[in-house]
Amino acid sequence: MVQEFDKVGVVGLGTMGAGIAEVFARAGFNVVGVEIDQAALDRGRGHVDKSLSRAVSKGKLTEEERSAIESRLTFSTSREDLSDADFVIEAVPERMEIKRDLFSDLDRICPPGTILATNTSSLSVTEIAALTDRPEKVVGLHFFNPAPVMKLAEVITTVSTSPETVDVVTEVAKRIGKTPITIGDRGGFVANALLVPYINDGIRLYERGIATREEIDESVKKAAGLPMGPLTLADLVGLDICLAVMDVLWEEFRDPRYSASPLLRRMVTAGRLGRKTGQGFYGGKDEAPEPQR
Ligand code: 3HC
Repeated sequence: MVQEFDKVGVVGLGTMGAGIAEVFARAGFNVVGVEIDQAALDRGRGHVDKSLSRAVSKGKLTEEERSAIESRLTFSTSREDLSDADFVIEAVPERMEIKRDLFSDLDRICPPGTILATNTSSLSVTEIAALTDRPEKVVGLHFFNPAPVMKLAEVITTVSTSPETVDVVTEVAKRIGKTPITIGDRGGFVANALLVPYINDGIRLYERGIATREEIDESVKKAAGLPMGPLTLADLVGLDICLAVMDVLWEEFRDPRYSASPLLRRMVTAGRLGRKTGQGFYGGKDEAPEPQR
């Protein structure tokens, strides 16, 4: 089934989309990466170049392998170039009006058999599927940052997803070297329902002045062996994404554990979104001020 599954479209080449495009090209799929304009496309290509260069410089990839991967990657600013894609995954910004516009285009442009996937972490996959005339062929395929490194892929099904679609996407996830878990469409899915409240708790400790950001992050690294602490992780994931996931969990479950920290909300309002804006809990002179202790 997946052998015939040759051309993959990736729409949106920000940090996540570029990582996803790289992962598919590395696994032997022909990938077309689509962005909204030339500047965004150049940035997306830059993300992939940087990641491949890092792998070459670390001796994890030969120059020949790099060239082969690059030969499988094409870039475009036109969604029409997805007209012969077997599978399309999107990682565009997390706003329903953007997804609405995209999925209505994809539904029109792609052949009826094309599976459409979303990498959303906070929007309802069911709602996205309902934007199309092929809800049985729409799934969530949720990657983790950095996408080339993190092994989990959540396959999110809706009440409309067909078993065939789930089988194909699960097999694809394995083909690209990920460990898939198949789950229903619920706030936070599984990994973010665990990780994001933990990040929120870290922010609360910081907000209350219980410990410095470094103490909070180091505690988790040294006590539990995690690769990074909650505030560093928040900066990596993006504070806007953390907040969106918290709000979805709160909306769905109304559990106080899922109430976003006021500081998280204020940081997002101020446009301090973490690494992607250069300002988060860390970030030179613009990092969040230490609260009084
Ligand atoms: N792109 C590609 N490869 C990368 C990378 C990137 N952005 N960042 C790191 N790597 C690779 C390195 O090349 C290296 O590869 P190697 O082992 O083959 O040499 C490996 O990852 C380790 O990197 P480093 O040695 O440079 O640095 P660290 O050991 O500190 O690892 C890390 C960096 C992989 C980011 C590690 O700190 C980590 O695992 N952090 C936790 C990340 C995490 O929890 N992600 C999930 C967030 S939740 C999410 O994304 C869901 C969303 O919906 C919000």
